[in-house]
Amino acid sequence: MDKGPFLAPVFIFLLTLLTCAITLLSCLNHSNKRRKQQEKKPKLPPGSMGWPSIGETLQLYSQHPNVFLSSRHKRYGEIFKTHILGCPCVMLASPEAARFVLVTQAHLFKPTYPRSKENLIGPSALFFHGGEYHKRLRKLVQASLCPEVLRRLVVDIEALTLSALTSWADHGRVINTYHEMIKLSFEVGILAIFGHLEPHYKEELHKNYTIVERGYNSFPTNLPGTRYRKALKARKRLSEILNNITRERKEKKLLERDLLSCLLNYKDDKGDVLTEDQIADNIIGVLFAAQDTTASAMTWIIKYLHDSPKLLEDVQAEQKAIYQSNGSGRSHLTWYQTRKMPVTYKVILESLRLASIISFTFREAVADVEYKGYLIPKGWKVMPLFRNIHQNPELFSNPQKFDPTRFEGTLRPNTFMPFGSGVHACPGNELAKLEMLILVHHLASHFRYELVGCESGIEYSPFPVPLHGLPARFCRDLDKHFQPPFSSHIS
Ligand code: HEM
Repeated sequence: MDKGPFLAPVFIFLLTLLTCAITLLSCLNHSNKRRKQQEKKPKLPPGSMGWPSIGETLQLYSQHPNVFLSSRHKRYGEIFKTHILGCPCVMLASPEAARFVLVTQAHLFKPTYPRSKENLIGPSALFFHGGEYHKRLRKLVQASLCPEVLRRLVVDIEALTLSALTSWADHGRVINTYHEMIKLSFEVGILAIFGHLEPHYKEELHKNYTIVERGYNSFPTNLPGTRYRKALKARKRLSEILNNITRERKEKKLLERDLLSCLLNYKDDKGDVLTEDQIADNIIGVLFAAQDTTASAMTWIIKYLHDSPKLLEDVQAEQKAIYQSNGSGRSHLTWYQTRKMPVTYKVILESLRLASIISFTFREAVADVEYKGYLIPKGWKVMPLFRNIHQNPELFSNPQKFDPTRFEGTLRPNTFMPFGSGVHACPGNELAKLEMLILVHHLASHFRYELVGCESGIEYSPFPVPLHGLPARFCRDLDKHFQPPFSSHIS
């Protein structure tokens, strides 16, 4: 019997079934693949982007930025997203992540500052740039702050420090420690930039620079009467003053190693020199980076030493020995001696850790970047959080305790970054530490002080500073008649 007519439909049915099964399987396979691919695709870090447009800006302003950041660090972990001041941001609170952004993959993240701030400092200042221009300028700044140059500044920094301490002690009145430290670090900044500068130029620079600084921290509206507008005008005057100083220096043809000379003597491969604007912007930039940061650190050292009487005794013993070996001030402190102050040096490092003067820095992703399975989208701001790293109990035991002995051992790599890290790390860190060492040397060896008022706390200027600028009274060690009206820890 011919079964052909019966088999044909069965065959067609089986074929159809097979085709359907294959299609279904391939669909399933495809969607599985897609799901797997999606699973693999990096996702945004955890965190909240807040309200449309304003993001979490209100929360940021309703509490202190450090509280804002540490509460989110606790909630979401070491990498989290947020949206503040009109920008989507990724915050990074681990040493590895900070190293990724600042060192190993630094080419994927560029420095970023609001235009309003760039205009006040000067758009050619090195810290707004990357690439070749940044490299060239950074070399010049580093050359002006290298150990060989700093060694020759010790005598002058010592003279400025002694003059400041003496004036505080002579007046016997309560001073705002932070304000006085700002004056001192301004003088040292001027010294590093210009060498010896005529007093009338110094005064003019100081007057206008102070107005610029006030405007830097104000709301940037360019309307008559606003701080920002006044700051822009003062910035223009600063350029004029700097151009005059520069022209005079060119005429004198001095062979100095200060920053101005390094900038003036620079020529690139084609023989091109820096423009007046490039020189002015970088001078203002360095002054800006140097002044309040160092002043804040020195103020914290005074506070922490006051609060740790035993430690102060150890520092006094170390410094008095050096002072006496120099004939009680008859000969100068030497560079070599500043390298041999182990107790004081650890106090400085611990002050930098606990105060974390620069709490965080900003970069911007120049491409989509993947970090530990998370996406950092192109154009987003990226913020390594130095303070959160410095105060992480897993990295620094009992992190709120002032304990310089923690610097006796070896620290875990990339956990201590008071001066940043990588290509933009602070080129002024050795100068800043030298200023602190010289201050502590004279303060501890032949001055005394007491803090006035017992209120403890922090205010932000925008750097962290002890409350009310740490009101204090200073006197010479020999002033036996010094009768502190408040209980003093220092005898
Ligand atoms: C305690 C005092 C100081 C602290 C805590 C400090 C901290 C820092 C930090 C964290 C950075 C890196 C910022 C970033 O990566 O975005 C930096 C950069 C910088 N600092 Fe300092 N600094 C101090 C003093 C100084 C001094 C005394 C000078 C100069 C005389 C100076 C000049 C600079 C400059 C020019 C940069 C930019 C470097 C670049 O972009 O390549 N700083 N500082």
